[in-house]
Amino acid sequence: MNKQSAQKLPHVTTRRLHDMKSEGEKISMLTAYDYTTARILDRAGVDVILVGDSASNVFAGHNTTLPITIDQMIYHARAVVRGVQAETSRAMVVIDMPFMSYQLSSEEALRNAGKIMKENECDAVKIEGGNVIVDTVKRITDVGIPVMGHLGLIPQSIYKFGSYKVRAREEQEAEELLRDAKLLEEAGAFALVLEKIPADLAAEVTASISIPTIGIGAGGACDGQVLVINDMLGLSTEFHPRFVRRYAELDRVIFDAVSRYVDDVRGGTFPGEDESY
Ligand code: KIV
Repeated sequence: MNKQSAQKLPHVTTRRLHDMKSEGEKISMLTAYDYTTARILDRAGVDVILVGDSASNVFAGHNTTLPITIDQMIYHARAVVRGVQAETSRAMVVIDMPFMSYQLSSEEALRNAGKIMKENECDAVKIEGGNVIVDTVKRITDVGIPVMGHLGLIPQSIYKFGSYKVRAREEQEAEELLRDAKLLEEAGAFALVLEKIPADLAAEVTASISIPTIGIGAGGACDGQVLVINDMLGLSTEFHPRFVRRYAELDRVIFDAVSRYVDDVRGGTFPGEDESY
């Protein structure tokens, strides 16, 4: 399908996600970092595309999400938005605010959220954290920029946590998380990612707030699910936690294709006559 022929569909909005929760319709979200993948995701009907700061890991090869910069996020975001626009334009596109682009002050966070919104035609930003970022979420949403929250295992705090283990198993952390979810809702967040927390707790959070929850390793009671595209396509072979369902083994597919290509070039069978001018 080319840019001209793709049939445009109603764009997924914050209101639509709210209605989906009310109607018990599950929300599908996946990450994307480039134009080609975004086109496929939009064509396949995914509701929300997250330009995750996981680009720092799976695209750039860093160990954590911390190194990625705001300009690098904007570069990825532009490519993804162009991909969605080239297809049905249906998927909502949410951009992660990278580490240290919103933590210093609400003013700085607002400036950076505004930069992200102005330099893309994206729909919303995502910010990690609870209590400490509530004022920032309020400041950003007050000017009309939709904010998705993110609680539980928040990867930008990995050095504080010291491991990628399940969060909020202890009562105190679970209570804090429940409280943070309500605070973020009150501050104006339109949805919440819940990462790697017990399924019972995620179900309790989901029932206690009116905004949709999107789980990753948080069980089936969340209003939606998100996965990192490289993980679900089997592109990252070394990372296989139990919450990732692999829908393809693209590492193997690409390896086989590239090996055959190398053999053909070495053996002089590519290009053939019908592949030449
Ligand atoms: O950056 C990311 O990919 C994310 C998802 C794991 C939710 O934040």
